[in-house]
Amino acid sequence: MEKPALPRFPSDFVWGVSTASYQIEGAVKEDGRGPSSWDAFVAEPGRVLGGDTGDVACDHYHRYPEDIRLMAELGVDAYRFSFSWSRIQPGGTGPVNPAGLGFYDKLVDGLLDAGIAPSPTLFHWDTPLELEQAGGWLNRDTAERFGEYAQIVGEHFADRIPRWITVNEPVVLTMLGYGAGIHAPGLELGFGALPAAHHLLLAHGLGVQALRAAGASNIGIANNHAVTWSASTSEEDVQAAGLYDNIANWIFADPILTGAYPQELASLLPEVPEADMVVISTPIDWYGINSYNPMLVGAPTVGEAALMDGHELDASLPFSLRELQGYPRTDFDWPVVPAAFTELLVGFKERYGKKLPPLYITENGAAINTGVDVDGRVPDQRRIDFMDAHLHALRVAMDAGVDVRGYFYWSLMDNFEWAAGFSQRFGLVHVDYETQKRTPKDSYYWYQDLIRHTQP
Ligand code: FCB
Repeated sequence: MEKPALPRFPSDFVWGVSTASYQIEGAVKEDGRGPSSWDAFVAEPGRVLGGDTGDVACDHYHRYPEDIRLMAELGVDAYRFSFSWSRIQPGGTGPVNPAGLGFYDKLVDGLLDAGIAPSPTLFHWDTPLELEQAGGWLNRDTAERFGEYAQIVGEHFADRIPRWITVNEPVVLTMLGYGAGIHAPGLELGFGALPAAHHLLLAHGLGVQALRAAGASNIGIANNHAVTWSASTSEEDVQAAGLYDNIANWIFADPILTGAYPQELASLLPEVPEADMVVISTPIDWYGINSYNPMLVGAPTVGEAALMDGHELDASLPFSLRELQGYPRTDFDWPVVPAAFTELLVGFKERYGKKLPPLYITENGAAINTGVDVDGRVPDQRRIDFMDAHLHALRVAMDAGVDVRGYFYWSLMDNFEWAAGFSQRFGLVHVDYETQKRTPKDSYYWYQDLIRHTQP
């Protein structure tokens, strides 16, 4: 059957691509950059698949002009990248490293010259190591230091940067970094990780305030969200799924959008000063959603540890993650369920009503590991199918009244996929890590065409 044609999007809809500093920059020891939590983590044997590191990654630090050209050719309106905090403040506190800021000056100016709106994230998980060693996000002080860092970056760039993102996915850093030990800093604290969630949210709020005070505007956050489905209608499964939903979704959205944590989590959360909630709910201009797939959750399965991206989770958790069957899967084994994307977005509108600011999709994408063929092409049709289906699903949500202003595909190019190293390729551009050769994939040309033709 013929696929329906691509839906139309408003003429001011923002088309973009996303990346993050540690995943693409490399040059970890250059020009005074201080080490981050991820530099330390990748050096620990067994942490990252194949012993891969971000030491070189896509060498974007040196090749950014070529990467800007690729984006200009692609035709995107905006580029979401992240600042490396420890390039700008090597120890996470104190004096600024001018060479670090200088790199981002060149990047930002190059983007502006190419007509692409720089849309940076202040923090995408690469905590300055000195701060990590002092307790990282378990320590309230890190949030205060983040506020100062936001002020520095805001004052330097406010007049040139049209769209800002404070932090990326506090949920993943909390759960995988401090809860399950799959990401840096590799701690396995289970529910003991929850103070990190609070401090990351506090950092977000302090960041919004510091950016505004520096004259910046158009500020949001990039939060990861997944529709949570219960494994069955049994009371045990429904309860377990409800708990997971609160811990993975609403604990990170409610405080920002309503000023309070979900009631159901009261017994699990540390006592929090009311003043913090006021900071966390400092008004934002828009809310960013990173979304990949829904989660199927049930009661714990006795004697069987749940898996997340191939890693075993603590079997004593009061829920278990189940395999969602009957859907196509990406090469990372994530289920492809476009209808869940619509459900997620419509669910946001239903949950928050008038309190919901406009949304941006700050990440959405698929790992499809197709390589370069003999003709020099990368025929990644399954990524095209993923994007096509998710953009239709997005349009359905917009037609149902959800105000979505833009879509950032993850990612511009293949890069260092955290614990999975270089094994998973999310890019529209293929990267040969031996030669650093960039090859636009079929999906790149498809997105280029879409950007040219979907607007009225
Ligand atoms: C998100 C991260 C991003 C990337 C994608 C695949 O959780 O924000 O850095 O790794 O997943």
